[in-house]
Amino acid sequence: MGMTRIIAFSGKGGVGKTSLAAVTVKALTEKFPHKKILAIDADPAVGLATALGIEVSLTIDDIRRKVVASVEDGDTKTAVELLGEAKYHIFDAIVETEAFSFIAVGRPESAGCYCKINSYLKEIIALVADNFDYIVIDGEAGIEQINRRVMEKVTHLVLVTDASKKGTQVVQTIKKVADTLVMYEKLGVIVNRMPDESVKQYLDLEGLPVLAYIGQDSDLSAFDITGQNVFLMPEESVMMGGVCQALENLGLA
Ligand SMILES: Nc1ncnc2c1ncn2[C@@H]1O[C@H](COP(=O)(O)OP(=O)(O)OP(=O)(O)O)[C@@H](O)[C@H]1O
Ligand SMILES: [Mg+2]
Repeated sequence: MGMTRIIAFSGKGGVGKTSLAAVTVKALTEKFPHKKILAIDADPAVGLATALGIEVSLTIDDIRRKVVASVEDGDTKTAVELLGEAKYHIFDAIVETEAFSFIAVGRPESAGCYCKINSYLKEIIALVADNFDYIVIDGEAGIEQINRRVMEKVTHLVLVTDASKKGTQVVQTIKKVADTLVMYEKLGVIVNRMPDESVKQYLDLEGLPVLAYIGQDSDLSAFDITGQNVFLMPEESVMMGGVCQALENLGLA
């Protein structure tokens, strides 16, 4: 995979992972218009597509089901074996816009499929990485995808929290597990939706580097309601400022 930078967003539910991942894609496309950028929606709840203004027609889970159905013993084969037999299918699920590419993991129909889709996703990241300069992954809430080594190849791990005790605890837990299961080069925290500066004193991040403190973004709230995508957001927005600062602190811009 060489020089591919793989940036993943991880953290408690509802803290802003999807919004930050989307704004990161926007920032990278503007800073590096000639680089190849891939956005991966790794959350089965789906959200990154909407935030980026993408229509998803085919997901990784759709491909997985097609391949399983077309291969003898498909159900018992591992993700690696299956992918070896149908590599080219994956590129069918990549949506390309002028500025970036996009792929979504999709929502498996039954719970049992979900760990399969996670191992599939892990292989796909490894498989497509060479074709891109930057990969931005919007992770599922919580620690499952770190535990299952889906994030193994991530080079820049961004832990997102709000000012809550619960959020910072999840960040600490993810950091501990990531230290053994993710081969990251850089890791840092984004504290999002800060009500005001005074909450900083309560943040218990055990000395983890903070990449950016981001306040309440009224543009984002408005965009959420009208369902507009981040590419229509003003350049001087709170989110855009915070993301650019985080990218600088990660050594990415
Ligand atoms: N800085 C901010 N200012 C205002 N609203 C924000 C900010 N960050 C996120 N939000 C809003 O908070 C909500 C949750 O954000 P988002 O969906 O990005 O979180 P998430 O971590 O991806 O959630 P989930 O775990 O459910 O996937 C959204 O309505 C989003 O618009
Ligand atoms: Mg999300």
